[in-house]
Amino acid sequence: MELQGKVVAITGGGKGIGRAIALRLAAQGAKLALLDLDEEAMTQTCDLVKEAGSEARGYICNVADEAAVETTFNQIVADFNSLHGVVNNAGILRDAQLIKVKDGKVVKKMTADNYSLVVDVHMKGAFLCAREAAAHMVELGVEEGCIVNMSSIAYRGNFGQSNYSAAKAGIVAQSKVWAKELGRYNIRSMAIAPGTIDTELLRSMPEDALNAIAAGIPLKRIGDVDNIAQTVQHIFENNYLSGDVIEVSGGVTL
Ligand SMILES: NC(=O)c1ccc[n+]([C@@H]2O[C@H](COP(=O)([O-])OP(=O)(O)OC[C@H]3O[C@@H](n4cnc5c(N)ncnc54)[C@H](O)[C@@H]3O)[C@@H](O)[C@H]2O)c1
Repeated sequence: MELQGKVVAITGGGKGIGRAIALRLAAQGAKLALLDLDEEAMTQTCDLVKEAGSEARGYICNVADEAAVETTFNQIVADFNSLHGVVNNAGILRDAQLIKVKDGKVVKKMTADNYSLVVDVHMKGAFLCAREAAAHMVELGVEEGCIVNMSSIAYRGNFGQSNYSAAKAGIVAQSKVWAKELGRYNIRSMAIAPGTIDTELLRSMPEDALNAIAAGIPLKRIGDVDNIAQTVQHIFENNYLSGDVIEVSGGVTL
């Protein structure tokens, strides 16, 4: 897909990886609908996109809320008169071990609420946004469409992340289902599984902890948000990519 003039929705577009994706797609001439809960960050990203010479609108939307997602996508199509793709990127972490044991006694458990919350935001959020985006793209009769879903290398199962790993594995599975179901409408669906990427959260960690993380990566460095944005651009532009997951991890395979 040639990105010039295309309308792309990006969830979690306010900061981190989502902002980098917005800026990279804007540089290719795409018009952007940013969905986020953080209004300040989203407004900043919209301003940066406009400074870069493209168009962006922000929508406050909880991607795990069905009614909010339906209303938001209806509004996006009304505002832009079109839709060619969605990047399901919004995410949260609520890490904890299944059980934590001290001196033979269970002292902590991952709560069911934190399990459900993470699965809802990542997996159900991607499902709802992909569903609404696909429905609009088909009814609009766009020539081609693209769905990009942000997984993580944690989809293979990461310590302390029952909820996140399950959600990220579900995202890979959903990406493959949608490739099979939507291919007949020329809508492609792909997942990206990043390794450790330099975002705000990471920058708040002490330097020795960051060095230890980098030491465990075959390339000996943490990834940049633009490494992920580049991959999103590649998926949009290569019209034979569908039903697969691209790992962008500096060589970490978990
Ligand atoms: N940073 C990494 O190392 C890394 C690694 C692998 C995968 N990922 C994935 O990449 C994606 C982006 O991560 P990031 O590091 O940029 O995170 P981030 O916290 O910097 O940004 C996430 C954005 O999502 C928004 N968001 C959270 N919950 C939302 C909801 N319910 N509805 C709408 N918006 C919501 C937040 O407000 C925020 O702007 C996530 O899916 C994450 O799991 C990140």
